[in-house]
Amino acid sequence: QSLGIIGVPFAKGQGKQGVELAPDLLRQSNLRQVLQSSHDGLVIRDYGNLQYAVDETLLQQQRVHYHHIRNYADFMACNRALIEQVKIMLQQNSQFLAIGGDHAIGFGSVAGHLQHTPNLSLVWIDAHADINLHSTSQSGNIHGMPVSFLLEQLRTTWQHACLDEIAPNCLPKDQLVYIGLRDIDPYEAFILNKFGIRYYAMDTIDRVGVPKIIEMTLDALNPQNKIHVSFDIDALDSNVAPSTGTAVRGGLTLREGISIVEALRDTKRVQGVDLVEINPKLGNERDVRTTVDSGLEILKSMFGYRRSGHWSNIDTGI
Ligand code: ARG
Ligand code: MN
Ligand code: MN
Ligand code: MN
Repeated sequence: QSLGIIGVPFAKGQGKQGVELAPDLLRQSNLRQVLQSSHDGLVIRDYGNLQYAVDETLLQQQRVHYHHIRNYADFMACNRALIEQVKIMLQQNSQFLAIGGDHAIGFGSVAGHLQHTPNLSLVWIDAHADINLHSTSQSGNIHGMPVSFLLEQLRTTWQHACLDEIAPNCLPKDQLVYIGLRDIDPYEAFILNKFGIRYYAMDTIDRVGVPKIIEMTLDALNPQNKIHVSFDIDALDSNVAPSTGTAVRGGLTLREGISIVEALRDTKRVQGVDLVEINPKLGNERDVRTTVDSGLEILKSMFGYRRSGHWSNIDTGI
């Protein structure tokens, strides 16, 4: 098994500087060693940090159609590059990890994944639904919109974005499950309900418990499909993930996050993962440490670590 890693230091999907520092900070915090020790025989290839260039066509699109969305042209340029990068990583490896950056990169990461593997399921673990349209966003921040670029039923609202060219494959709404939501904009709630999108918000999680949520999630996803897990660190409670741009209290505990990720990983169908929204410029040094450690724990479980121990490759001759 092999894992490609790409850093995507994109911060223009929201207003706060600092998320662009997360990929290198995770690397400095021994990301590679942590993943390596969690999974015997995992081959890791680091593709560095993504670069992109904005062209005149995109600036024109932004001026004419999307001037009220902040940094639309940058968003598209970055995601176009990310789509190509994800395809390369999946040609060369069995899995990939995209490290943000803000959640705007969820578009390119999933869209690239869909081009390699059209039959895909998406689990979006987040405090937020990130499903705003350009016409419903109150903030103008495009990290609150990536899911609307992916769903069959919503991408028609981006009629000037040339999605048929850059991201021809889309996700059917029944192969999307949200977990951890607790800060949904009114228009987003309308969209979720209108299209009957599955979402397990924190109140449902409190009512039925994490094991049931996992069961319902796995029941909903086509068992033939590969899985993409897009993990926004703000899904976790701000006690364990304080350094993030839109922290919301009352979130998943680290143990709940680990449980969910373990169950997904045990399907052996997880092929693509995002970890986004860690912002090392927010909070004090200890907050940053805590947030990065939580992110590493999530990734460790995502890529193989078993809390019940590893012993299968040991022969002591006892
Ligand atoms: N719903 C809000 C918005 O549209 C917040 C989105 C937060 N998204 C995130 N990826 N943290 O701006
Ligand atoms: Mn492949
Ligand atoms: Mn998000
Ligand atoms: Mn979020």
